[in-house]
Amino acid sequence: MANTNLEDVPSENLMTELLRRFKCSSKPDKRLILVGPPGSGKGTQSPIIKDEYCLCHLATGDMLRAAVAAKTPLGTKAKEAMDKGELVSDDLVVGIIDEAMKKPSCQKGFILDGFPRTVVQAQKLDEMLEKQGAKIDKVLNFAIDDAILEERITGRWIHPSSGRTYHTKFAPSKVPGVDDVTGEPLIQRKDDTAAVLKSRLDAFHRQTEPVIDYYSKKGIVANLHAEKPPKEVTSQVEKVLSQ
Ligand code: AP5
Repeated sequence: MANTNLEDVPSENLMTELLRRFKCSSKPDKRLILVGPPGSGKGTQSPIIKDEYCLCHLATGDMLRAAVAAKTPLGTKAKEAMDKGELVSDDLVVGIIDEAMKKPSCQKGFILDGFPRTVVQAQKLDEMLEKQGAKIDKVLNFAIDDAILEERITGRWIHPSSGRTYHTKFAPSKVPGVDDVTGEPLIQRKDDTAAVLKSRLDAFHRQTEPVIDYYSKKGIVANLHAEKPPKEVTSQVEKVLSQ
């Protein structure tokens, strides 16, 4: 890693980082899973939870899309399943999560967004955590009716490098098609069509709903009303995490 000369870092940036670290030092460690169908709001709430609790945000979908864009061997293997709205193999995603959880930014815990998505992935995650003497604290279940999701998915626009998400109706950018912060263009995801959404929902009901049962038996699932407006969902999350 290149050495950064602190004298070259602007004071404002240093102060912001110091204040952030000071705030984070008093926060409890948390290991969270966000589960819910496509478009239920996991990616919208994750950055808010991440900032509040100083956690790292590990979204397997984002990591896989980055691998596809970079045409890595992992991306080449994942692309076909993703384009069809099917799940990629358990071994691929377990490998990337195992590696990602070792990052220094995950020191105070993590938000797993889109993982685990099968019971096998959940079991493997438990094994990984057991080795570190850790366990999942809470599973936030973004419960929502399928009928609401098509409008959310087909209206979504994304700023790829930051992960910021917009919606033409529910969360429009100031200038259509342009990121509010950087002024860079927004994109739509290749799998955000009504047709691919059907396969993604099918995969969710068949393969991911059993994951919710798996964690319910451990007594750590909190059910959210994910059909409510974003701010109300944030309040529900805050309430659950403060308990
Ligand atoms: P992934 O990227 O994880 O997609 P997903 O689970 O389908 O989830 P989304 O990102 O579509 O939805 P979200 O809940 O984050 O919604 P958002 O907050 O953006 O996975 C993609 C693919 O990768 C999979 O199909 C699979 O192939 C593969 N994959 C990933 N993980 C895997 C794994 N573990 N195993 C195997 N394969 C894996 O919200 C959507 C829109 O609604 C936005 O525009 C937002 O502005 C708006 N919105 C959000 N909340 C609200 C609200 N409360 N009210 C109104 N609008 C709202």
